[in-house]
Amino acid sequence: MSRKVIIAGNWKMNKTAAEGKALVDALKPLVADVCPDVADIVVCPTFTTLAAVIDAVKGSNIKVGAQNVHWAESGAFTGEISAAMLKELGVEYVILGHSERRQYFGETDETVNKRLKAALAAGLKPIVCVGELLEERETGKTEKVLFTQLEGGLAGLSKEDMAKVVIAYEPVWAIGTGKTATPEIAEETHNYIRCTLNDMFGKEIGEGVRIQYGGSMKAENAKELVAQPNIDGGLIGGAALKADSFSALIHNAI
Ligand code: G3H
Repeated sequence: MSRKVIIAGNWKMNKTAAEGKALVDALKPLVADVCPDVADIVVCPTFTTLAAVIDAVKGSNIKVGAQNVHWAESGAFTGEISAAMLKELGVEYVILGHSERRQYFGETDETVNKRLKAALAAGLKPIVCVGELLEERETGKTEKVLFTQLEGGLAGLSKEDMAKVVIAYEPVWAIGTGKTATPEIAEETHNYIRCTLNDMFGKEIGEGVRIQYGGSMKAENAKELVAQPNIDGGLIGGAALKADSFSALIHNAI
């Protein structure tokens, strides 16, 4: 099955509104030749930079995502943002369960699942992150960890909803370290994720789910990674923070 490539830039806690607008203004002409039928290009700024970036991407082929969302519709949740708030702003995608959220902010498969259901109910397109720690890979626990994250994070989802979800496989040991998984290791793991999705939701749904690779992806390695049969794009950190490096990565990936 052919799946459309999706390249998303996760800006993490970088870029003020003015800096985000400047980045998008520089990126737009560089990626204007990328046909929306060939690839989805997404940028995911901080909450406070979203409005400026949504305004800046108007009329372009760049889409906008948030980096998290709360599961409640409203209420006493100081510091949190609801799915309806993101939707009203014009946000299309939302990253969920990034390893930094799991590591520093106590995110669990259960809370990822609650956020995922709220995002889907509001019409947002979720990017659900999974991935193993270095120690887990070295002790042969990668598949077990991924299975637990997928089983818990995607629990109770209908086939129809699963078809709207993007999975991002990010080996934690490759994030921001410059150590990219080799295309062989990444493909082997993406294939495991694909088989698990096929088991959970049926082949018709599982084969259609886009699985991004994340972890030190850059222009130099994007082509080989995305050429793998089960790698459908990337979730990019560092290389998405500059227009020229993000554009070069996108062009090499498609
Ligand atoms: O969300 C993006 C990933 O954490 C990858 O970050 O490209 O800086 O390694 P990185």
